[in-house]
Amino acid sequence: MSESVFPVPADVAARAHVDNAKYLEMYQRSVDDPDGFWGEHGKRVDWIKPFTKVKNTSYDYHNVSIKWFEDGTLNVSANCIDRHLEKRGDQPAIIWEGDDPSEHKVITYKDLHHEVNKFANVLHTQGVKKGDRVTIYLPMIPEAAYAMLACARIGAIHSIVFGGFSPDSLAQRIESCKSNCVITADEGLRGGRKVPLKLNVDKAAEKAPVGSVIVVKRTGGDISMQEGRDVWYHEEADRVSDHCAPVEMNAEDPLFILYTSGSTGQPKGVVHTTGGYLVYASMTHQYVFDYHEGDIYWCTADVGWVTGHSYIVYGPLANGATTLMFEGVPTYPDASRFWQVCEKHKVNIFYTAPTAIRALMGAGDDFVNKADLSSLRLLGSVGEPINPEAWTWYYNVVGKQNCPIVDTWWQTETGGILITPLPGATELKPGSATRPFFGVQPAVVDAEGKFLDGATEGNLVITDSWPGQMRTVYGDHDRFVQTYFATYKGLYFTGDGCRRDGDGYYWITGRVDDVINVSGHRMGTAEVESALVAHAKVSEAAVVGYPHDIKGQGIYAYVTLMEGEEPTDELKKELVKHVRAEIGPIASPDLIQFSPGLPKTRSGKIMRRILRKIAEDSFDNLGDTSTLADPAVVDDLIDNRQNRA
Ligand code: WT7
Repeated sequence: MSESVFPVPADVAARAHVDNAKYLEMYQRSVDDPDGFWGEHGKRVDWIKPFTKVKNTSYDYHNVSIKWFEDGTLNVSANCIDRHLEKRGDQPAIIWEGDDPSEHKVITYKDLHHEVNKFANVLHTQGVKKGDRVTIYLPMIPEAAYAMLACARIGAIHSIVFGGFSPDSLAQRIESCKSNCVITADEGLRGGRKVPLKLNVDKAAEKAPVGSVIVVKRTGGDISMQEGRDVWYHEEADRVSDHCAPVEMNAEDPLFILYTSGSTGQPKGVVHTTGGYLVYASMTHQYVFDYHEGDIYWCTADVGWVTGHSYIVYGPLANGATTLMFEGVPTYPDASRFWQVCEKHKVNIFYTAPTAIRALMGAGDDFVNKADLSSLRLLGSVGEPINPEAWTWYYNVVGKQNCPIVDTWWQTETGGILITPLPGATELKPGSATRPFFGVQPAVVDAEGKFLDGATEGNLVITDSWPGQMRTVYGDHDRFVQTYFATYKGLYFTGDGCRRDGDGYYWITGRVDDVINVSGHRMGTAEVESALVAHAKVSEAAVVGYPHDIKGQGIYAYVTLMEGEEPTDELKKELVKHVRAEIGPIASPDLIQFSPGLPKTRSGKIMRRILRKIAEDSFDNLGDTSTLADPAVVDDLIDNRQNRA
């Protein structure tokens, strides 16, 4: 890990919302007097009925309860659209860049108002009411943002499912939150390839029937429409008015559910609510990206992930920003695409993931250098630890040593960024997410939950609540408590390990639970295992992560076959195909090792620690193997480990 330090450039500090002295002062106040601090900053959004209470939260294991601004009322879509109309009706709200470089669209705040009102009325025609769950399974087209904001406008709770998930995964997520309406498109378009979204919805609906499917026309591809269930969005939109009054919502009414992977096979429905989430998303967007009036801001995430929710849609639009939305992939038509888009739309703030940076770094500097990147002022990174090599390349080649990099650590559960540099305040150290945002109180604990002081290493916990925190797991509050507050009673456990250096900087070292991070996508090893054992020829499977040059972590699967099955390369391909069909392409195993036996304790528990070491190629020091039922299994696994050269 590099310990070089990049001071804050004087010009960056001068124009920034906060310099270091201001950061320290605001941070101190935010933890000494959260009611005062958030009471003041809570006013950044427009309330219909102003709140009189600010923080009412308990991390007590027996009574976990999180409420912010609980007696206030507001509407998120009015905050993201209506309140900007007077001042910036003709300003671009969304710049949409298509998969095909010849396609783009500019949507002003006025346009956005028109589109979202229409969409909200279409939802009404489909019988969607306040509190109903709506599943959104769309590509990265403006309608994805319209659909989210339309739900927010009428008080429906959206649950976005990433377009790369399979019909089975989609069905599971429809069923789990009992949604009766799905919004999709005929097909998606990514890197010139079509994604059969409507067909996937048809398959999902066989397992999880829904009353209504709203279909946006994107490619015009051939699909089938089921009479009485499916409607074309454009036909319905033609029939409705473009006026729909925003519904008054309580601060603690749910805004959305987003499923995320954990240590068990079943994804959790993370619930975010209205008031605290919007305050936190908009405030972090302003300060972390040092957003100023007129900036063109681009976050390359997909709205299927939390980054897209908070930093493509809700945060930027609440701030009246211009947010760029990109349908395609970084390498289509070639590896200069990101940089061409930056040049074309004069992007000032660019936020992407380390996996994309590594892939583009591998493609060579020429792709970057042929674009004019002089508009760039700030770079951001999110999703996994950024290795110092990638950081340095991003800083030198993309940023030309003029753009600070904000390495932002957060999670689906946190709603917004928790640990991050602020461009005008924080000296940068490549690979470190640096210091906490206002109101965030990180701590490092050992395995027993003892607080570790000063420079140290251990598990990352947060000791008190912030407004953007998830409130519960949909339909299962006990699971929320068990997952996040049971490991260390009274503390929010992040699932991440970290190091804290002598300057109080945090260095996230990765997950310490059975979650792996593949290209910045979070994957439960248990989910991949249950997909594998669902195959008729598989008797047992154990999945671990291993270091992967581009993806950060790759998926390594140890598979024990049923008696009499042949371990062939054909079968490996079949298993990969099977997992893709069960979960989606993001869960494809990179390496499969057929293993006649898995290392188990005498009580039958799989010793994952050993499997992880073998997958990492660090089997010289396997640690304590004395509890193994059959030590010979390990030698066989080492001898047959998969070569990844
Ligand atoms: C996990 C959360 C929230 C945005 C996207 C991922 C890892 C995220 C960083 C970072 C080191 C990071 C953590 C975290 N992570 N950002 N800047 N440095 N690790 O959201 O899918 O909920 O995954 O991503 O391990 O726990 P997510």
